[in-house]
Amino acid sequence: MIRSGGLVAFPTETVYGLGACALDSQAVEAIYKAKGRPSDNPMIIHIAEVGMLPQLVRDGFVPPYATLLIRRFWPGPLTLVLPKDPKVPNVVTGGLSTVAVRMPANTVALELILKTGLPLAAPSANLSGRPSPTTAEDVLEDLDGRIPLILDAGPTGVGLESTVVDLTSDPPTILRPGGVTREELENCLGFPVSVASQPSAEDAPRSPGMKYRHYAPRAVLKIVDGPKGMIGKLRDLPTGTRVGWLVNASWRGSLEVDLPQEIVYVRESYYRSVQELAASLFREMRECDRLDVDVILVSAVPEIGLGVAVMNRLQKAMGGE
Ligand code: TXA
Ligand code: MG
Repeated sequence: MIRSGGLVAFPTETVYGLGACALDSQAVEAIYKAKGRPSDNPMIIHIAEVGMLPQLVRDGFVPPYATLLIRRFWPGPLTLVLPKDPKVPNVVTGGLSTVAVRMPANTVALELILKTGLPLAAPSANLSGRPSPTTAEDVLEDLDGRIPLILDAGPTGVGLESTVVDLTSDPPTILRPGGVTREELENCLGFPVSVASQPSAEDAPRSPGMKYRHYAPRAVLKIVDGPKGMIGKLRDLPTGTRVGWLVNASWRGSLEVDLPQEIVYVRESYYRSVQELAASLFREMRECDRLDVDVILVSAVPEIGLGVAVMNRLQKAMGGE
């Protein structure tokens, strides 16, 4: 299917991707169409060997910072933005002169790329705007009837998308926080990296994906910072509101008393670490939608390490409110 210009959804260690040959502009157009994705939002190209990188970047040149990061983090949840080779169709990069590339740490993804022998352009395999899919069922829920094949390898491990780092700026800039943390990047490079600020809608952002509402469940999402505040928020909700929550397991005891009775508690989930929260966040958003939840409460986490990516996705899901 890939060799003849078709689309295939496949697992990665972060989220499921919707792949097509990155060098075939028609195939890539079909991805935008299947997802309902704005065509100025560029895609990540997935490779399985470092040897596939030079053909994608300008003059085949892989800069020293990139080599350091590749040795340390590939395969893994790190996407590098580099100057693009003219061979990469403009439709992949939304007209940008740069290209985003990563090597996923998932054997099914790697085998798919190796067996087709092609670099695969692949955004997350969700309908544009919906939470990224972390299971094959999630992909089916969004794209049934729109794509011919999903490779099912069970739930993904990281649960949030890769970190996108722009290496065309000095110092390198984190455009999207993700599975590899700022601290890990700085330890590897030996100097501070900068973090892109959230652009306004009018900006011409360096990572166009940042301007869209993303990862959004149909339910209203609220961040809560402790059991007391959470009970206060519940009291403010209208009678009969259907609530789901994903909060720190240590809050459990405090939430067993004092809960307002006029609320309908549809789903109660707990996490024990920020890794567990990241892995279950998108799945819980989708599950709450399936259960027709009106309001989802998620506990805030400190903005360090993986917590940065978690808070970024929560804020996006709230539509910037
Ligand atoms: O973990 C992931 O990265 C997943 C899996 C499937 O690999 N993919 C993913 O793709 O999240 P997508 O399309 O949902 O997000 C790609 C992000 C967007 O924010 C996009 O704007 C940015 O990467 N991006 C892609 N190419 C870029 C470029 N040349 N310059 C700046 N940002 C770029
Ligand atoms: Mg996406």
